[in-house]
Amino acid sequence: MGDHQHPAGHGLFISFEGIDGAGKSTHINGLADAFRALGRTVTLTREPGGTPLAEKLRALVLNDAMDPLCEALLMFAARRDHLRQVIEPALARGDVVLCDRFTDATFAYQGYGRGFDLDVLGQLERWVQGRDDSDRLRQPDLTIWFDLDPSVAAARLASARSPDRFESLPVEFFARVAEGYRQRQRGDVGRFARLNADQPVSQVWRSVLSAVVSRGWLPAQSLS
Ligand code: TYD
Repeated sequence: MGDHQHPAGHGLFISFEGIDGAGKSTHINGLADAFRALGRTVTLTREPGGTPLAEKLRALVLNDAMDPLCEALLMFAARRDHLRQVIEPALARGDVVLCDRFTDATFAYQGYGRGFDLDVLGQLERWVQGRDDSDRLRQPDLTIWFDLDPSVAAARLASARSPDRFESLPVEFFARVAEGYRQRQRGDVGRFARLNADQPVSQVWRSVLSAVVSRGWLPAQSLS
């Protein structure tokens, strides 16, 4: 084990969040490369999705019309399978798990965006992320939040590929989603690293790296 390990024998769980158009993807891949260069095994995954079943649920939830409760249940059903089949085994092996979205997205999109009952989401979170070996829920060790003004994100998306059910929603929806992320951060400040996503890619990348370096999970030389 090197100097930059999370507590011995345990993996590291990092999630990436932000409204559509915030530009997470390239940085997730970059961070995977940075950890691999240190000799860490990286599990790169996403939500909804990450297992054969959860990918089927993703296709449904991103394309088929349904009511908000159904949407929330499918997000958490996909998450349950993903946790059991992929995330928990990877963390037990000591992998670095990089996950493109996790439960904060459900609070932000279904809760704040759609207006779905936050208490019900909290109950689902407890059911799905409860653990046998700990009183604490499974949560990411770090959530990197790409914070971007919804109107800037909308302009970026306008030139992108064909939108899914969420991407086609109006800017007001994304303003509520962004507020959802702010509230989630307020509720768990230590877990979040907020970064300004309205900067050149190289600047955003520096912010991503420094969030990880400052926690001691990558060496300081990564920043130079
Ligand atoms: P995203 O992760 O942005 O993937 P892509 O880059 O392929 O579009 O898309 C997933 C969409 O699902 C995004 O619009 C947010 C939404 N979503 C929710 O509404 N709730 C959730 O719990 C999750 C994980 C995602």
